[in-house]
Formats: sequence, C-alpha cells, structure tokens
Amino acid sequence: MRRTLTTLLAAIIGATLSGQVKVSVHETAPDQPVIPKEIYGQFAEHLGRCIYDGIWVGEDSPIPNINGYRKDLVEAIRELKVPVLRWPGGCFADEYHWMDGIGPKKDRPRIINTHWGGTLEDNSFGTHEFLNFCEMLGIEPYISGNVGSGTVEELSKWVEYMTAKEGVMAEKRAANGRKEPWNVKYIGVGNENWGCGGNMTAEYYSDVYKRYATYCRNYDGNKLYKVACGASDYDYNWTRVLMSKVRNGLSGLSLHYYTGGQGRALEFDEDNYYNLIGKAVEVDEVLKNHEAIMDLYDPQRKIDLLLDEWGTWFAQEPGTIPGHLFQQNSMRDAMVAAMSLNIFNKHTARLKMTNIAQMVNVLQAMILTKDAEVVLTPTYHVFRMYNVHQDAVSVPVAYSAGTSVSPSGRIYPELSVSASKADAIHVSLANPSVDKPKTVELEFDSLKPSKVTGEILVGKGKGIDAVKSHNDFGGQVQVAPAAFKDFKTSGKTVKVTLPPASVVVLEVK
Ligand code: AHR
Repeated sequence: MRRTLTTLLAAIIGATLSGQVKVSVHETAPDQPVIPKEIYGQFAEHLGRCIYDGIWVGEDSPIPNINGYRKDLVEAIRELKVPVLRWPGGCFADEYHWMDGIGPKKDRPRIINTHWGGTLEDNSFGTHEFLNFCEMLGIEPYISGNVGSGTVEELSKWVEYMTAKEGVMAEKRAANGRKEPWNVKYIGVGNENWGCGGNMTAEYYSDVYKRYATYCRNYDGNKLYKVACGASDYDYNWTRVLMSKVRNGLSGLSLHYYTGGQGRALEFDEDNYYNLIGKAVEVDEVLKNHEAIMDLYDPQRKIDLLLDEWGTWFAQEPGTIPGHLFQQNSMRDAMVAAMSLNIFNKHTARLKMTNIAQMVNVLQAMILTKDAEVVLTPTYHVFRMYNVHQDAVSVPVAYSAGTSVSPSGRIYPELSVSASKADAIHVSLANPSVDKPKTVELEFDSLKPSKVTGEILVGKGKGIDAVKSHNDFGGQVQVAPAAFKDFKTSGKTVKVTLPPASVVVLEVK
C-alpha cells in the first residue's frame, strides 16, 4: 500500500515538475460501455428566438428555407449529427397545450408565453413542424409533456395523435396532412415539476408521474421510453424519493445542471473564468452522487439517468428582450462544452442522454441568428469535433494531471481527456490554462500508431483575450477548427503539445 502511494505521489510530482502529463490509454480494456450517441443530444424550447427565427421562419420568409425551416440552420445541424432533440420545453412544456399547434395555421390560437418574456406565441410551429424537422434530419424526437397545467387525457391523446395508426386521433392527424404515424420514443412526463412545472414535492410528483405515465400508451409497435422529471443539481432527496417510489414504468430519470456565471458571456476575468470551469466540472461529482443513489435502488441499472438540460447561463445581452436568454458564446463556452463532454463520456454506464440548452439563440447555443445571418459558435465546433465519440466504445484513460486553484480559491483540473474506439481511436483533450501550454504523452496498451491526424479549436490572441474569442455577425470569425500537427509518434506513444486554452481531438490508427 505504502509503495503504491509513493508511486502515485511520484507520478503526480513528476508530472507537475516536468510540465508533462502521461495519459495511459487502455484501448485493450475489455467490456467497456458504448458512448450512446444520445450523450450528444440537444434541446429546443419555445423561448426567445430559439424556435421562431432560429429554426422556423415559415415558408413565405425571404430568408432561404426548406419548407419553413432555415436552410443555413438545417445545413449546420446536419453536420453535428444531432441524435435527439427535446421539445417544446423546458418551463414552456408545462404550459403548452399541443392542440393549439395543429391544424390550419390561420386558426391556431395566439397565446402569451407567460414564462418567457410574455411574448406572443402564434403556434405556427407545432407537433407536425417539430416532428417533420426531426424526420428530415434523422433526429430522434424527445417530447416533453405538460403535467403542470395539462390533463392526463391531453397527454394521452398527444401520444395517440403522434403514434397511432388508426382511431380518432390518427384520423385527426391524417386530416391535418400526415397519414402515417411518426416514431416517437422519448416522452418526458413533465419538466422541473419541483419548480416551474407545478411546484410539487418529490412525494407528490411520484404519484402524479405514475398517473400520467399509465395513460401514455404504446400504439402499433411504437415503444415509448418514459422519462420522469428529475432533480436540479444537488437535490439528492428528489432522486432518492423518485427511485424509492417509482420503480416500474420508468425508463429514465432526468437531471438538470447549469453552470451560471457572473455578468455577460464576454464579460469575465481570469478568476471568473477558472471559477466557471471549476463549477462546470463539478458535474462529475453531481452525476456520481445521483448515480450512487440510483445504484442503491436499481443495482441492475434498468433505469437510465438523463441530463436533459445543461450548459452555461449568463446575463443576457443588452438590447435583447428580457426573458429571451440570448447570450454570446466564446472559447470559454467551448472549454465548458469540451470538459463536460469528456466527463459525460465516462458516465455512460448509467448516463444515457444529455441535452445541451439550447440549439439556437438561447443560452449555450450552437448557432446564433440575426435576420439572414448565421453564426456558428465555438460550442458548435466542439460538438462537431466530438461527434466521433457517438456510439463508439468507451476507452478508459488514466492520468494525474493535477489541479490548480483560481485566485478566489476554486479548484479546477489542469487537463481533461476522454477517448473512444470505433474504426479508429479518438482522444479528445482540453487544456483550460489561459497561459500555459500542456505537453501530454499518450501511451497506448498495445497500439503502435501508424497514422495520427488531429483538429484543434483555439481562440485568437493571448491569455484571457484568447478565451474571450468568439464569432459574431458581420463575418467576424475568431474561433474555427484547424488541422492540428503538434504531435510526435514513437512506438506506443503520441506526444502532444496543447496550446493554452485549446481543445484538440486526435484520430489515431
Ligand atoms: O433552458 C431554460 C430553462 O431552464 C428551462 O425552460 C427550464 O427547464 C430550466 O430552468
């Protein structure tokens, strides 16, 4: 034991002193879980300009569109290989009455989106528009049902409308232009029912869940995967109660974890930056704690954990409508995305889906739009670079990179790594330091790399300015992936030098 400790300490000190970290990549480890593609899922809510302007502009818009969907967005989203999209909320879901969003558009009621800015919602984007969007892009839809202000009958009929081949709901759907049912797997039974979804206790919601879920039926071979509203962040009691009271008829339990920062997306100093990184990676511990509770009640892991909302949350940009949650997106967001995804890739024994908030124009968005202009954010590029991990087999990595402390005392890791194996091995690495490069020696169990290629995402300039790099309207592109060449192979190793504040994905064969 003493020798092991001594060896470990020597490894850590050695790593720190030499400024170089050794990462053992165990590509031969047997029986590793697959990283489900759904770990790379997204979320789109009727909030601000996510749906309207972001995804949907309507067929008559001067903005180039495919049947009403923005063409530039469709093309960009295709590249990401988005596996699953959660809709229509969020808090909006528990105020949404789906029948408002079907039938001729001129007859659809105009309602007030009371949760998000009091904006008028004309319901021109409804069930057909959402499910057709998913179908066009090969995305699995994840419907979030109304439990807070809707009825059991309403949710039950929504499922029937979307998935039954015949009967009154199927006839209604056909009359609205869609004869064949859609495949809908994921159905969320409420959202944040401890808060905006009805302010319920965990005990009360457990019973409500069972009641609503009972009447979400499987029609004509469509098999539903039912998701119960889960905890926020550190609310372990919610998970405990749900797991003890609802064990049957539940496929997944959700969890929400946001990384909030002071000020706006581009307003931060080094201390704010490292604090934010520290808070973002705390999701590792939060996941472990929820997973440990789930293990107690469900040791065979029949119920999945879904982190169906996560991402950065800053003060919204000046001049935008209050409650619309529009924020810019910098290399800081890219770092949060990369380090979070590296963590999620290692939790897939229980964690089967995550949905970043949100796809476009809201919170940590992939895409920002303004009239006919579109901006791909640094977060977009991380999701594109990391999509190689989707459905690949997880490869364990072992390293002791050490930690640092922000000026105000928050601990954050000096390096973040994950790996997976498909046709090739992919290793994704992130160096959060604003000023120090990191040299990493990857050592494989048995592979002697014969071909290595890589991509890097890094900001413009130096220090904190590089971390503030972002892309903006008017053609400002400060962050875009580029080919990465700063590595050397020798025997079973690849030595890589990561510049400060960079994200790198290597493909190793
Ligand atoms: O993503 C924005 C909001 O954050 C969602 O509507 C809600 O579920 C969460 O509080």
